Amino acid sequence: MSDHFSIERGLFDDVMVPNYSPSAVIPVRGQGSRVWDQQDFEYIDFAGGIAVSSLGHCHPALVTALKTQGEKIWHVSNLLTNEPALRLAKKLVDRTFAEKVYFCNSGAEANEAALKLARRWALEVHGEHKSQIIAFKQGFHGRTFFTVTVGGQAAYSDGFGPKPANIDHAEYNNLESLKALISDNTCAVMIEPLQGEGGVVPADAEFIKGVRALCDQHNALLIFDEVQTGFGRLGEFYAYMGLGVTPDILTSAKGLGGGFPIGAMLTKTNIAKHLTIGTHGSTYGGNPLACAVAEAVFDIISTDEVLADINNKAQLFIDGLNAINAKYNLFTEIRGKGLLIGAELSEQYQGQAISFLNAAMAEGLLVLVAGANVIRFAPSLVIPDEDIALGLERFERSIANFIK
Ligand SMILES: Cc1ncc(COP(=O)(O)O)c(C=O)c1O
Repeated sequence: MSDHFSIERGLFDDVMVPNYSPSAVIPVRGQGSRVWDQQDFEYIDFAGGIAVSSLGHCHPALVTALKTQGEKIWHVSNLLTNEPALRLAKKLVDRTFAEKVYFCNSGAEANEAALKLARRWALEVHGEHKSQIIAFKQGFHGRTFFTVTVGGQAAYSDGFGPKPANIDHAEYNNLESLKALISDNTCAVMIEPLQGEGGVVPADAEFIKGVRALCDQHNALLIFDEVQTGFGRLGEFYAYMGLGVTPDILTSAKGLGGGFPIGAMLTKTNIAKHLTIGTHGSTYGGNPLACAVAEAVFDIISTDEVLADINNKAQLFIDGLNAINAKYNLFTEIRGKGLLIGAELSEQYQGQAISFLNAAMAEGLLVLVAGANVIRFAPSLVIPDEDIALGLERFERSIANFIK
Protein backbone atom coordinates (compact mmCIF):
# COMPACT_ATOMS: atom_id res chain seq x y z
CA MET A 1 0.00 0.00 0.00
CA SER A 2 1.45 3.39 -0.88
CA ASP A 3 0.67 6.68 0.88
CA HIS A 4 -1.02 9.30 -1.32
CA PHE A 5 1.01 12.20 0.05
CA SER A 6 4.70 12.99 0.12
CA ILE A 7 6.61 12.75 3.37
CA GLU A 8 8.56 15.97 3.43
CA ARG A 9 9.07 18.99 5.65
CA GLY A 10 6.02 20.83 4.30
CA LEU A 11 3.75 18.14 5.74
CA PHE A 12 4.96 19.10 9.23
CA ASP A 13 3.32 22.51 8.90
CA ASP A 14 0.13 20.92 7.63
CA VAL A 15 -0.37 18.32 10.32
CA MET A 16 1.79 19.08 13.35
CA VAL A 17 1.24 21.53 16.22
CA PRO A 18 3.61 24.44 15.52
CA ASN A 19 5.61 24.32 18.78
CA TYR A 20 8.73 23.07 16.93
CA SER A 21 10.48 24.34 13.83
CA PRO A 22 12.43 21.37 12.48
CA SER A 23 14.96 21.55 9.67
CA ALA A 24 14.06 20.52 6.12
CA VAL A 25 16.39 17.54 6.59
CA ILE A 26 14.54 14.34 7.47
CA PRO A 27 16.85 11.59 8.75
CA VAL A 28 15.80 8.09 7.78
CA ARG A 29 18.54 5.85 9.16
CA GLY A 30 21.59 5.93 11.39
CA GLN A 31 24.55 3.72 12.21
CA GLY A 32 27.02 4.52 14.96
CA SER A 33 27.74 8.25 14.73
CA ARG A 34 26.48 8.65 11.18
CA VAL A 35 23.00 9.50 9.97
CA TRP A 36 21.52 9.59 6.44
CA ASP A 37 18.63 11.67 5.18
CA GLN A 38 15.93 10.93 2.60
CA GLN A 39 18.34 11.85 -0.21
CA ASP A 40 21.00 9.54 1.30
CA PHE A 41 23.18 12.53 2.24
CA GLU A 42 25.45 11.59 5.16
CA TYR A 43 25.82 13.51 8.44
CA ILE A 44 28.29 13.00 11.27
CA ASP A 45 26.28 13.20 14.47
CA PHE A 46 27.77 15.50 17.13
CA ALA A 47 24.26 16.21 18.48
CA GLY A 48 23.19 12.77 19.69
CA GLY A 49 19.51 13.73 19.58
CA ILE A 50 20.24 16.31 22.33
CA ALA A 51 22.57 14.20 24.49
CA VAL A 52 20.42 11.08 24.18
CA SER A 53 22.02 8.64 21.73
CA SER A 54 24.84 7.82 24.14
CA LEU A 55 25.86 4.72 22.17
CA GLY A 56 25.16 6.14 18.73
CA HIS A 57 22.51 4.83 16.38
CA CYS A 58 21.45 1.18 16.14
CA HIS A 59 24.13 -0.11 18.53
CA PRO A 60 23.99 -3.91 18.04
CA ALA A 61 23.59 -4.63 21.78
CA LEU A 62 20.65 -2.21 22.02
CA VAL A 63 19.02 -3.55 18.88
CA THR A 64 19.33 -7.09 20.27
CA ALA A 65 17.90 -6.05 23.65
CA LEU A 66 14.93 -4.36 21.96
CA LYS A 67 14.25 -7.25 19.58
CA THR A 68 14.63 -9.89 22.27
CA GLN A 69 12.29 -8.09 24.67
CA GLY A 70 9.98 -7.22 21.75
CA GLU A 71 9.34 -10.89 21.21
CA LYS A 72 8.64 -11.53 24.90
CA ILE A 73 6.35 -8.87 26.39
CA TRP A 74 5.95 -5.14 25.63
CA HIS A 75 3.78 -3.70 28.33
CA VAL A 76 2.13 -4.75 31.56
CA SER A 77 1.40 -1.45 33.42
CA ASN A 78 2.25 -0.92 37.07
CA LEU A 79 -0.52 -3.21 38.24
CA LEU A 80 2.25 -5.77 37.67
CA THR A 81 6.01 -5.51 37.84
CA ASN A 82 8.36 -6.96 35.20
CA GLU A 83 11.79 -8.53 34.94
CA PRO A 84 13.64 -5.83 32.93
CA ALA A 85 12.47 -3.09 35.34
CA LEU A 86 13.59 -5.05 38.39
CA ARG A 87 16.95 -5.93 36.81
CA LEU A 88 17.60 -2.30 35.81
CA ALA A 89 16.55 -0.94 39.22
CA LYS A 90 18.85 -3.43 40.98
CA LYS A 91 21.80 -2.39 38.80
CA LEU A 92 21.14 1.32 39.41
CA VAL A 93 20.88 0.80 43.15
CA ASP A 94 24.09 -1.24 43.24
CA ARG A 95 25.98 1.37 41.18
CA THR A 96 24.85 4.56 42.98
CA PHE A 97 24.04 6.17 46.35
CA ALA A 98 20.39 5.27 45.81
CA GLU A 99 18.38 2.57 47.54
CA LYS A 100 15.13 3.04 45.63
CA VAL A 101 14.19 3.79 42.01
CA TYR A 102 11.04 5.18 40.36
CA PHE A 103 10.73 4.76 36.59
CA CYS A 104 8.95 7.12 34.20
CA ASN A 105 9.25 8.16 30.56
CA SER A 106 11.21 11.41 30.31
CA GLY A 107 13.42 13.89 32.10
CA ALA A 108 10.54 16.19 32.93
CA GLU A 109 8.61 13.32 34.48
CA ALA A 110 11.61 12.26 36.56
CA ASN A 111 11.92 15.84 37.85
CA GLU A 112 8.18 16.12 38.43
CA ALA A 113 8.40 12.98 40.59
CA ALA A 114 11.43 14.36 42.46
CA LEU A 115 9.69 17.67 43.21
CA LYS A 116 6.46 16.01 44.30
CA LEU A 117 8.41 13.61 46.51
CA ALA A 118 10.37 16.48 48.09
CA ARG A 119 7.17 18.41 48.82
CA ARG A 120 5.49 15.31 50.29
CA TRP A 121 8.58 14.49 52.41
CA ALA A 122 8.73 18.06 53.77
CA LEU A 123 5.01 18.15 54.52
CA GLU A 124 5.04 14.85 56.38
CA VAL A 125 8.35 15.27 58.21
CA HIS A 126 8.40 19.02 58.91
CA GLY A 127 4.98 20.54 58.22
CA GLU A 128 3.24 22.87 55.78
CA HIS A 129 5.67 25.78 56.21
CA LYS A 130 8.50 23.87 54.52
CA SER A 131 7.45 24.09 50.89
CA GLN A 132 9.92 26.48 49.23
CA ILE A 133 11.80 25.08 46.25
CA ILE A 134 14.97 26.82 45.14
CA ALA A 135 16.47 26.30 41.71
CA PHE A 136 18.84 28.37 39.54
CA LYS A 137 18.56 31.04 36.88
CA GLN A 138 19.15 29.65 33.38
CA GLY A 139 18.51 26.11 34.70
CA PHE A 140 16.34 23.72 32.72
CA HIS A 141 14.30 20.88 34.18
CA GLY A 142 11.63 20.05 31.58
CA ARG A 143 8.32 21.36 30.25
CA THR A 144 5.61 20.12 32.62
CA PHE A 145 4.16 23.12 34.42
CA PHE A 146 5.90 22.32 37.73
CA THR A 147 9.31 21.58 36.16
CA VAL A 148 9.24 24.50 33.74
CA THR A 149 8.41 26.84 36.63
CA VAL A 150 11.34 25.42 38.60
CA GLY A 151 13.50 26.00 35.51
CA GLY A 152 15.23 29.34 35.50
CA GLN A 153 13.83 31.00 32.37
CA ALA A 154 10.53 32.75 32.93
CA ALA A 155 10.08 33.01 29.16
CA TYR A 156 9.39 29.25 29.11
CA SER A 157 6.89 29.27 31.99
CA ASP A 158 5.08 32.57 31.37
CA GLY A 159 1.80 32.64 29.50
CA PHE A 160 0.08 29.58 30.94
CA GLY A 161 -1.82 31.13 33.83
CA PRO A 162 -1.12 30.81 37.54
CA LYS A 163 2.13 28.99 38.27
CA PRO A 164 2.88 26.47 41.01
CA ALA A 165 3.82 28.58 44.03
CA ASN A 166 6.80 29.08 46.33
CA ILE A 167 9.57 28.54 43.79
CA ASP A 168 12.62 30.85 43.86
CA HIS A 169 15.73 31.17 41.72
CA ALA A 170 19.30 31.83 42.84
CA GLU A 171 22.33 32.66 40.69
CA TYR A 172 24.26 29.61 39.51
CA ASN A 173 27.82 29.40 40.89
CA ASN A 174 26.98 32.13 43.41
CA LEU A 175 26.66 30.71 46.91
CA GLU A 176 25.81 34.07 48.45
CA SER A 177 22.77 34.28 46.22
CA LEU A 178 21.55 30.88 47.47
CA LYS A 179 22.34 31.87 51.06
CA ALA A 180 20.10 34.89 50.70
CA LEU A 181 17.11 32.70 49.73
CA ILE A 182 17.48 29.49 51.71
CA SER A 183 15.94 29.03 55.17
CA ASP A 184 14.33 26.36 57.33
CA ASN A 185 11.25 26.82 55.10
CA THR A 186 13.18 25.45 52.12
CA CYS A 187 12.02 21.99 51.14
CA ALA A 188 14.51 21.30 48.33
CA VAL A 189 17.20 22.76 46.12
CA MET A 190 17.19 21.46 42.52
CA ILE A 191 20.36 21.87 40.48
CA GLU A 192 22.10 20.60 37.35
CA PRO A 193 25.77 19.68 38.06
CA LEU A 194 26.44 21.42 34.73
CA GLN A 195 23.81 23.65 33.15
CA GLY A 196 23.22 22.10 29.73
CA GLU A 197 20.48 24.08 28.02
CA GLY A 198 21.60 27.17 29.94
CA GLY A 199 24.86 27.40 27.99
CA VAL A 200 27.07 24.41 29.01
CA VAL A 201 28.14 25.96 32.31
CA PRO A 202 29.82 23.59 34.81
CA ALA A 203 29.25 24.09 38.54
CA ASP A 204 32.37 25.11 40.48
CA ALA A 205 33.43 22.33 42.86
CA GLU A 206 33.41 24.69 45.86
CA PHE A 207 29.98 26.05 44.94
CA ILE A 208 28.40 22.62 44.74
CA LYS A 209 29.93 21.62 48.09
CA GLY A 210 28.54 24.85 49.53
CA VAL A 211 25.08 24.02 48.16
CA ARG A 212 25.21 20.63 49.90
CA ALA A 213 26.30 22.27 53.17
CA LEU A 214 23.48 24.85 53.02
CA CYS A 215 20.92 22.09 52.36
CA ASP A 216 22.25 20.16 55.37
CA GLN A 217 22.16 23.26 57.55
CA HIS A 218 18.50 23.91 56.69
CA ASN A 219 17.29 20.31 56.41
CA ALA A 220 16.47 20.76 52.74
CA LEU A 221 16.75 17.97 50.19
CA LEU A 222 19.37 18.32 47.46
CA ILE A 223 18.06 17.19 44.07
CA PHE A 224 20.58 16.68 41.28
CA ASP A 225 19.02 16.88 37.84
CA GLU A 226 21.34 14.55 35.94
CA VAL A 227 19.00 14.16 32.99
CA GLN A 228 21.66 15.59 30.66
CA THR A 229 24.85 15.07 32.73
CA GLY A 230 24.24 11.47 33.78
CA PHE A 231 24.95 8.05 32.36
CA GLY A 232 28.54 8.78 31.42
CA ARG A 233 28.01 12.09 29.63
CA LEU A 234 30.50 14.00 31.81
CA GLY A 235 32.98 11.12 32.05
CA GLU A 236 31.65 9.73 35.36
CA PHE A 237 28.75 7.30 35.56
CA TYR A 238 26.80 10.12 37.21
CA ALA A 239 28.40 13.56 37.50
CA TYR A 240 27.94 13.67 41.31
CA MET A 241 30.54 10.90 41.55
CA GLY A 242 33.23 13.30 40.37
CA LEU A 243 32.13 16.21 42.55
CA GLY A 244 32.51 14.73 46.02
CA VAL A 245 28.89 15.62 46.78
CA THR A 246 26.01 13.16 47.09
CA PRO A 247 22.45 14.33 46.42
CA ASP A 248 19.35 13.09 48.25
CA ILE A 249 17.45 12.62 45.00
CA LEU A 250 18.87 12.22 41.48
CA THR A 251 16.98 12.28 38.21
CA SER A 252 18.08 10.54 35.03
CA ALA A 253 16.73 10.26 31.48
CA LYS A 254 18.14 11.09 28.01
CA GLY A 255 21.25 8.85 27.75
CA LEU A 256 19.71 6.31 30.14
CA GLY A 257 17.67 4.86 27.29
CA GLY A 258 20.16 5.55 24.50
CA GLY A 259 17.25 6.76 22.35
CA PHE A 260 14.39 4.75 23.84
CA PRO A 261 12.23 6.99 26.08
CA ILE A 262 12.75 6.33 29.78
CA GLY A 263 13.33 8.39 32.91
CA ALA A 264 14.24 7.46 36.46
CA MET A 265 14.27 9.06 39.89
CA LEU A 266 16.76 7.65 42.38
CA THR A 267 16.70 8.24 46.13
CA LYS A 268 17.18 6.81 49.63
CA THR A 269 14.66 4.59 51.42
CA ASN A 270 13.86 7.09 54.17
CA ILE A 271 12.82 9.67 51.56
CA ALA A 272 11.23 7.23 49.09
CA LYS A 273 8.90 5.91 51.77
CA HIS A 274 6.84 9.13 51.54
CA LEU A 275 5.62 8.22 48.05
CA THR A 276 3.18 5.70 49.48
CA ILE A 277 0.81 3.57 47.40
CA GLY A 278 -1.29 5.73 45.09
CA THR A 279 0.54 9.02 45.69
CA HIS A 280 2.20 9.09 42.24
CA GLY A 281 2.40 6.96 39.12
CA SER A 282 2.61 6.51 35.37
CA THR A 283 1.01 3.96 33.05
CA TYR A 284 4.19 3.38 31.07
CA GLY A 285 6.81 3.92 33.80
CA GLY A 286 9.13 0.91 33.94
CA ASN A 287 7.91 -0.36 30.57
CA PRO A 288 9.71 -3.66 29.76
CA LEU A 289 10.97 -2.54 26.33
CA ALA A 290 12.40 0.71 27.74
CA CYS A 291 14.00 -1.04 30.71
CA ALA A 292 15.49 -3.82 28.59
CA VAL A 293 17.16 -1.24 26.33
CA ALA A 294 18.32 0.87 29.30
CA GLU A 295 19.81 -2.23 30.92
CA ALA A 296 21.83 -2.85 27.75
CA VAL A 297 23.00 0.79 27.82
CA PHE A 298 23.90 0.42 31.50
CA ASP A 299 25.95 -2.73 30.85
CA ILE A 300 28.09 -0.93 28.27
CA ILE A 301 28.37 2.56 29.78
CA SER A 302 29.24 1.34 33.26
CA THR A 303 32.36 -0.48 32.07
CA ASP A 304 35.73 1.09 32.89
CA GLU A 305 36.85 0.92 29.23
CA VAL A 306 33.96 3.10 28.04
CA LEU A 307 34.03 5.53 30.98
CA ALA A 308 37.80 5.94 30.84
CA ASP A 309 37.77 6.71 27.12
CA ILE A 310 35.19 9.51 27.34
CA ASN A 311 37.76 12.06 28.47
CA ASN A 312 40.19 10.97 25.71
CA LYS A 313 37.49 11.59 23.13
CA ALA A 314 36.59 14.88 24.80
CA GLN A 315 40.23 15.97 24.49
CA LEU A 316 40.10 15.32 20.73
CA PHE A 317 37.12 17.68 20.56
CA ILE A 318 38.75 20.34 22.69
CA ASP A 319 42.03 20.19 20.74
CA GLY A 320 40.19 20.27 17.40
CA LEU A 321 37.96 23.18 18.43
CA ASN A 322 40.95 25.11 19.78
CA ALA A 323 42.78 24.57 16.49
CA ILE A 324 39.75 25.86 14.55
CA ASN A 325 39.52 28.83 16.90
CA ALA A 326 43.21 29.62 16.46
CA LYS A 327 42.47 30.06 12.74
CA TYR A 328 39.11 31.81 12.81
CA ASN A 329 38.95 33.43 16.25
CA LEU A 330 35.22 32.84 16.73
CA PHE A 331 34.96 31.61 20.28
CA THR A 332 35.66 33.37 23.56
CA GLU A 333 35.61 30.08 25.43
CA ILE A 334 35.47 26.35 24.77
CA ARG A 335 34.21 24.66 27.91
CA GLY A 336 32.33 21.72 29.34
CA LYS A 337 33.07 18.37 30.85
CA GLY A 338 33.36 14.94 29.27
CA LEU A 339 31.38 14.84 26.04
CA LEU A 340 29.16 17.82 26.79
CA ILE A 341 31.07 20.67 25.23
CA GLY A 342 30.12 24.26 24.50
CA ALA A 343 31.83 26.85 22.33
CA GLU A 344 30.79 30.40 23.22
CA LEU A 345 30.64 32.77 20.27
CA SER A 346 32.57 36.04 20.43
CA GLU A 347 30.95 39.47 20.45
CA GLN A 348 30.90 39.67 16.65
CA TYR A 349 28.79 36.51 16.30
CA GLN A 350 26.45 36.96 19.27
CA GLY A 351 22.99 35.55 18.67
CA GLN A 352 24.06 33.53 15.64
CA ALA A 353 24.58 30.04 17.10
CA ILE A 354 21.65 28.71 15.09
CA SER A 355 23.19 29.98 11.84
CA PHE A 356 26.37 28.03 12.63
CA LEU A 357 24.22 24.95 13.27
CA ASN A 358 22.56 25.35 9.87
CA ALA A 359 25.90 25.92 8.13
CA ALA A 360 27.26 22.73 9.74
CA MET A 361 24.23 20.77 8.58
CA ALA A 362 24.80 21.88 5.00
CA GLU A 363 28.31 20.37 5.26
CA GLY A 364 27.05 17.06 6.67
CA LEU A 365 27.40 17.66 10.42
CA LEU A 366 24.78 17.72 13.17
CA VAL A 367 25.54 19.99 16.13
CA LEU A 368 23.40 21.61 18.85
CA VAL A 369 23.07 25.04 20.34
CA ALA A 370 22.63 26.01 23.99
CA GLY A 371 20.94 29.39 23.84
CA ALA A 372 21.71 31.93 21.14
CA ASN A 373 25.46 32.22 21.75
CA VAL A 374 26.78 28.72 22.39
CA ILE A 375 27.35 25.86 19.95
CA ARG A 376 26.94 22.61 21.86
CA PHE A 377 28.35 19.16 21.14
CA ALA A 378 26.90 16.01 22.74
CA PRO A 379 27.99 13.10 20.56
CA SER A 380 27.82 9.38 21.23
CA LEU A 381 30.10 8.40 24.11
CA VAL A 382 31.63 5.73 21.87
CA ILE A 383 32.01 7.87 18.74
CA PRO A 384 34.96 6.55 16.70
CA ASP A 385 37.99 8.86 16.72
CA GLU A 386 37.87 8.97 12.88
CA ASP A 387 34.32 10.36 13.05
CA ILE A 388 35.44 13.05 15.49
CA ALA A 389 38.20 14.05 13.05
CA LEU A 390 35.89 13.99 10.03
CA GLY A 391 33.15 15.90 11.86
CA LEU A 392 35.61 18.58 12.93
CA GLU A 393 36.82 18.89 9.34
CA ARG A 394 33.23 19.45 8.23
CA PHE A 395 32.74 21.93 11.07
CA GLU A 396 35.77 23.91 9.97
CA ARG A 397 34.57 23.91 6.37
CA SER A 398 31.14 25.14 7.44
CA ILE A 399 32.75 27.96 9.42
CA ALA A 400 34.94 28.97 6.51
CA ASN A 401 31.81 29.12 4.30
CA PHE A 402 29.75 30.93 6.88
CA ILE A 403 32.13 33.77 7.64
CA LYS A 404 33.10 34.33 3.98
C1 LIG B 1 18.84 19.00 32.70
C2 LIG B 1 17.56 18.63 32.04
N1 LIG B 1 16.51 18.28 32.78
C3 LIG B 1 15.34 17.92 32.23
C4 LIG B 1 15.17 17.91 30.87
C5 LIG B 1 13.84 17.51 30.29
O1 LIG B 1 13.93 16.22 29.76
P1 LIG B 1 12.78 15.72 28.77
O2 LIG B 1 12.85 16.57 27.56
O3 LIG B 1 13.13 14.26 28.52
O4 LIG B 1 11.48 15.87 29.48
C6 LIG B 1 16.24 18.27 30.04
C7 LIG B 1 16.07 18.29 28.58
O5 LIG B 1 16.79 18.94 27.86
C8 LIG B 1 17.47 18.62 30.63
O6 LIG B 1 18.52 18.99 29.90
